[in-house]
Amino acid sequence: TQRPILVQGPMPIEAEHFAERLENVKEEKSGDFVFYIGTLADYPVIVAKTGKGMENTAAATAVAIERYNPIAIINQGTSGGHDPSLNVFDIVLGKRTVNLGSLKTADKAENEGIDPTIWKPMDLMASEGSAGEDPNAEKPRFYEGDQALLAAAHAVKDTYTKGKVVDGTIGSADVWNNEVDRIKWFHTKYDTSVEEMEGAAAAQIAKAYEVPFLGIRVLSNNKVNGGKYNPNTASANQEYVYEVVKQYISTA
Ligand code: 5AD
Repeated sequence: TQRPILVQGPMPIEAEHFAERLENVKEEKSGDFVFYIGTLADYPVIVAKTGKGMENTAAATAVAIERYNPIAIINQGTSGGHDPSLNVFDIVLGKRTVNLGSLKTADKAENEGIDPTIWKPMDLMASEGSAGEDPNAEKPRFYEGDQALLAAAHAVKDTYTKGKVVDGTIGSADVWNNEVDRIKWFHTKYDTSVEEMEGAAAAQIAKAYEVPFLGIRVLSNNKVNGGKYNPNTASANQEYVYEVVKQYISTA
């Protein structure tokens, strides 16, 4: 039997549009997670409504891998821009995905204050020892987007007409950054194109099981260039991801 492609979306508006386009759908639940199990072009595809944030996403990814043995995982949804050249409705293909919440603070005594600008990235996967004591852990951990998924996404770029589709870096944490200087700090230090709250959690678990992974994120807002939040971006992204999945199936 064929291994399904798993397409994840955090919020109802980020998953249900794709789920509605599946054929022969049956719904399963595990905890809060909803899995729409169906087919696309006669190939098995599962849409997972994971809920928002890193914890929901990590758990929903592990549950889906254990239950359904997916051949590939696409984590998709909305995001906020870190790159001033990207506008609302543009789409970022996650050549790399990185956890923006893994940080080590400066070493300061009582009354020496708090200074996030000198915090260092921390790689929890650098070693089995203490990340707090390991100088080799003072770097971001980037998860690479899968080449075959990226190739499928590139092949159908032109089907998307609401904005541009670019390769970039997706940053994730359970944080909504609205400080432009903090956004610039991430953009400079991690080369982030966008931020959201799920991709790196899914990428980390996909990597643990060696399942090919790609993040695909539409900008629903961009604080650095005044791009106002538009929820219609969520369904636009799903339309594009549908084409990516169809393309991936046709070359599988
Ligand atoms: N910062 C963080 N998360 C964002 N999201 C959309 N825009 C942003 C942003 N600027 C997404 C997250 C989460 C929900 C709040 O929307 O991935 O699921």
